[in-house]
Amino acid sequence: MCGIIGYCGQHRASEILIEGLKRLEYRGYDSAGLCLVENNNLVCYKRVGPVAHLEEAVARQDLGGHVGIAHTRWATHGIPSEVNAHPHFDCHHQIAIVHNGIIENYQALKELLISEGHIFSSETDSEVLAHLIEKFYKGSLEEAVTKALALVEGSYGLVALHASENKLVAARRSSPLIIGVGQDEIFIASDVPAILNHTKDVVYLQDGDLAIIDSKGYQIKNLAGKLLDRQVEEVKLSMEQIEKKGYKHFMLKEIFEQPQSLANVLAGRITDNQIKLSLNWHREVIQRIIIAACGTSWHSALIGKYLLEEIVGLPVEVDYASEFRYRHPLVSSHDLFIAISQSGETADTLAALREARSRGAQSLGIVNVVGSTVAREVDSGIYLHAGPEIGVASTKAFTAQITALLLLALYWRHEAGYEIDKKILNELRHLPTVAEKTLEANSQVIELAQRFMNFENFLYLGRGLNFPVALEGALKLKEISYIHAEGYPAAEIKHGPIALVDENMPVVVLATKNDLSDKTLSNIQEIKARGGQVIAIVDQDYEPVKKLADYLIKVPVVHVWLSPIINVIPLQLLAYYIADAKGLDVDRPRNLAKSVTVE
Ligand code: M6R
Repeated sequence: MCGIIGYCGQHRASEILIEGLKRLEYRGYDSAGLCLVENNNLVCYKRVGPVAHLEEAVARQDLGGHVGIAHTRWATHGIPSEVNAHPHFDCHHQIAIVHNGIIENYQALKELLISEGHIFSSETDSEVLAHLIEKFYKGSLEEAVTKALALVEGSYGLVALHASENKLVAARRSSPLIIGVGQDEIFIASDVPAILNHTKDVVYLQDGDLAIIDSKGYQIKNLAGKLLDRQVEEVKLSMEQIEKKGYKHFMLKEIFEQPQSLANVLAGRITDNQIKLSLNWHREVIQRIIIAACGTSWHSALIGKYLLEEIVGLPVEVDYASEFRYRHPLVSSHDLFIAISQSGETADTLAALREARSRGAQSLGIVNVVGSTVAREVDSGIYLHAGPEIGVASTKAFTAQITALLLLALYWRHEAGYEIDKKILNELRHLPTVAEKTLEANSQVIELAQRFMNFENFLYLGRGLNFPVALEGALKLKEISYIHAEGYPAAEIKHGPIALVDENMPVVVLATKNDLSDKTLSNIQEIKARGGQVIAIVDQDYEPVKKLADYLIKVPVVHVWLSPIINVIPLQLLAYYIADAKGLDVDRPRNLAKSVTVE
């Protein structure tokens, strides 16, 4: 949700800022802006739309400033417009700020500031920060920011500058910020890809940190002014990993990366007869598992419930993180709370984690982004190592999350003294190859996408472990193609949704062979009897469905525990190719952002 970058150094800041913004566009892309210090003046450009519009405007200028800040926005308060785009300024155009987060008490602060004579230009909550800093500015930006933040409620990743100070002051509360340490240049950004072209040495700011940055170095203090010592860490990410590598979109690249991302999540974690994880917990006291997550990660949590209850034999509750945090949940020290998050920064998931920990639960994170806030706050963790996921629609993180949950369940079972079936270990070892084989459905899916791209509604059906896959297939289609789609447990449609079925309602059925296949077959029959068109995901040896369905997508035969990982791949491709055939911006779907760091 909003991307921030700031620069202090020897080079032209504008080029570095624009390049960084492009790498942060996955966080928001409804408008962008930058502000540079040039000869003790603030020079600012803003444009509505993607960063490319700002780049075009800036390219026509000869901008020489070496200190600057920039922002790509995902609107919360106020429509996408130049006025609402960041940076925001004080009344005298001496102070500029970029902000990611929500200032919850902005109305009260705004009224106070207006009563003191401040004039506001935008509808945003963020603008109060610029005016509040102005209110306290007496020659030191650091001091003014500290005083301003003492009045602020809510979340912020904030970077401020002043026309007559060649420095940046940044602060973090619940919205990520990292410092990039270069040679005679320092960067500050929402995320590593923004600065990776310049440095791999980063410092992760923590909540309550204030950073004072100039081209020579940086200091980190708390809001009481005490100097803090934060470690510089070397990030293990390459530029290659964050490029499209010839694919039309990041989403397609990430779908095709799944053989590799699955290999990564498995690497070093399977031995001859067991699973190796290093978890720091008191397993013997756990009587219940609670999993909380959002969106796609919530779908993998649902799959986790099936896997953990069956394999480990403990009760599992799954919550939307946004609901968990506000429903006064009953949690005790006998609970293990699992937070699943690709980004590790989702505000609701983070808040749910904090709530569970404060009530005494042990915690475990299943996270992709190394060093992210969830990863830092849990007692134990399983990193996915799926590599950067840049497409807003989550794909490879989902399959890696399910794999991690299966590893966890098997690990736990082994710890409890049971042998793990060699067959499942072997299938896990071959999972990347099987995923590769599954991707061979690509050309078949392209044809189907052409055929179905103009339909306005879709149903997705699955049973057991594949019910959450139906939810995920529907979510993928909704978010990137804007086609209305619903996922249901296959048996549930006769309790209502079947009323929608006619020849205009394509129904995607997850019909791979398992204990419930015959029942799914009956559901297909019910749809056919009402004129519905069935697209069935089948494995290669399930003839009865092949006879009934209108269209088939074939996937390899796998153990039922692995079936969600394999079955979702053609659904990801179907959503992708339908959206692409409609000419939509797949990596930047409207109204969405990759990392949802606000409530
Ligand atoms: O980073 P997280 O896994 O915590 O993100 C959770 C959701 O915001 C995310 O899965 C979202 O639903 C994606 N757009 C789905 O494709």
